[in-house]
Amino acid sequence: MAKKSSAGATKAPSINIGISDKDRAAIAGGLSRLLADTYTLYLTTHNFHWNVTGPMFNTLHAMFMEQYTELWNAVDPVAERIRSLGHPAPGSYAAYGALASIPDAPATPPAALEMVRILKEGHEAVARTARSVFPLADKAGDEPTADLLTQRLTVHEQTAWMLRSLLES
Ligand SMILES: [Fe+2]
Repeated sequence: MAKKSSAGATKAPSINIGISDKDRAAIAGGLSRLLADTYTLYLTTHNFHWNVTGPMFNTLHAMFMEQYTELWNAVDPVAERIRSLGHPAPGSYAAYGALASIPDAPATPPAALEMVRILKEGHEAVARTARSVFPLADKAGDEPTADLLTQRLTVHEQTAWMLRSLLES
């Protein structure tokens, strides 16, 4: 139970992990953008798993499942890092819509290779978001966040490469 101040407002217990309040807020803000991007890309990838058609159906249906499963598993550690830094983790479509750097999935399912192009752009965008948070974590000596960002960058850059390869003739 959080203590109440004399004014009646709920006061959270203080956090003293060696990262300033300002740095924790900045990193949590960056991770919130990463969470929104990851969740949005997760949903688009699952959408494409359901709606892909054409001669590449088997390959893409299975590949998209692998990718959305990885993204689904990635949202939890990002959200829980935000909590460890003392901030609330965003978890609504409204918040994700406001925070995400990538667009929502198209209303009408695109052709198979257009899906691949959209996902490649998505993974590149999430990589840019993750990379933009790095200087904040670095400056604050926030190794757990830097480690998480490194793991996410590795996945997004590798997945973007695989998707890009499908688009080459
Ligand atoms: Fe399925």
